[in-house]
Amino acid sequence: MIKVSVIGAGTMGAGIAQIAATNGHKVCLYDSFDGAIETAETKLKKILDRLVEKERITQQDNEAILGRIIFTKDIKDVSGSGLVIEAIIENLEIKQKVFTEIESLVDEDCIIASNTSSLSIASIANALKKAERVVGIHFFNPAPLMPLVEIIPAVQTSESTLTKAKAIIDSWKKITVIAKDTPGFIVNRVARPFYGEALRIYEEGVADFATIDWAMREIGGFRMGPFQLMDYIGNDINYTVTETVFTAFYFDSRYKPSFTQQRMMEAGYLGRKSGRGYYNYLADTPKAIEDRELGKIILWRVLVMLINEAADALFLNIANKEDIDLAMTKGVNYPKGLLAWADEIGVENVLNQLKNLQTEYGEDRYRPSPLLKRMVRENKTFY
Ligand SMILES: NC(=O)c1ccc[n+]([C@@H]2O[C@H](COP(=O)([O-])OP(=O)(O)OC[C@H]3O[C@@H](n4cnc5c(N)ncnc54)[C@H](O)[C@@H]3O)[C@@H](O)[C@H]2O)c1
Repeated sequence: MIKVSVIGAGTMGAGIAQIAATNGHKVCLYDSFDGAIETAETKLKKILDRLVEKERITQQDNEAILGRIIFTKDIKDVSGSGLVIEAIIENLEIKQKVFTEIESLVDEDCIIASNTSSLSIASIANALKKAERVVGIHFFNPAPLMPLVEIIPAVQTSESTLTKAKAIIDSWKKITVIAKDTPGFIVNRVARPFYGEALRIYEEGVADFATIDWAMREIGGFRMGPFQLMDYIGNDINYTVTETVFTAFYFDSRYKPSFTQQRMMEAGYLGRKSGRGYYNYLADTPKAIEDRELGKIILWRVLVMLINEAADALFLNIANKEDIDLAMTKGVNYPKGLLAWADEIGVENVLNQLKNLQTEYGEDRYRPSPLLKRMVRENKTFY
């Protein structure tokens, strides 16, 4: 079994190291910052102890998993790896520098992957002599619990790198989908309207946070409402993802960030982690207006925007239809795949609602995907 190295022992790196070691690999977890590696080791020990308490693993497993990991501050320990996954700070220059260093330490056939959320894999790969060995392997937080992993070949990535990388992650019992090297890959692109359209509905005064969340949960079947979820993710992080995607798409108005969220971030109302976001976690939870007619209007408006985004991702060959649906159900727990959902409610109904919104607002953000128009013309369904 190949040795796996993980670069960066933060939130994502520590989780990825845990997965690889649990699946029997010898693991090298490296971080260059004082204290980071010690913190990762202490946290991982606690997590594994808790898994023993919950009887998910035995004490023997616990010891074996820890025994397979070396926690190191010496980057030379990555030598001999078959796969390196980088999960350091989201900065292209720093990532490129670290990639160059790794390439000088590993064998010819070692795959070097990045867990980046927002940089292009092509730009990271460009730093290497052998760029064809680079691929994106994008986990979701918390990595040991979220089943989805997006695999992203860059223009330089060889077919064998892609096949090998996918086979390794599949063997870790993850659900892999293949996504084009474009901003947000699948999940962080297709999910934008879940936040953006909910914020817009609030800004127009249609409903308050609690009511919008109630509608999405109770009528839509989503596990969390958009405002609950933004508070959970953190308004700083969620806003930055939106802004990055918006900029990367050359300011396409479909991805425009919201002033409401920007102000939350500026005020330090980051969500659960700061005690206050859209909700005040130190006070009583506000009551939703449980009006089903209003709820359906809210759900329908967010849902058609999500379906439009999923259809457009398919139209532009970001991924195949099965992978687009899997990505949203397994990466962000949507109750149904968006394209399957479109079939259920009728593609023509989705298109008509988008056309109505576009006419009403005159904004490009509501433009329907050409794929929806074509499908209605040809009387087709996604499945
Ligand atoms: N947090 C998420 O939800 C999430 C999800 C998917 C992908 N990602 C991506 O994963 C990567 C890491 O994110 P994170 O949330 O784990 O960050 P983090 O800040 O928790 O951890 C980053 C770690 O990298 C270390 N580091 C920084 N520069 C380094 C260097 N030059 N050499 C070695 N170690 C270095 C830091 O000490 C820190 O321990 C980013 O590219 C991010 O976009 C994050």
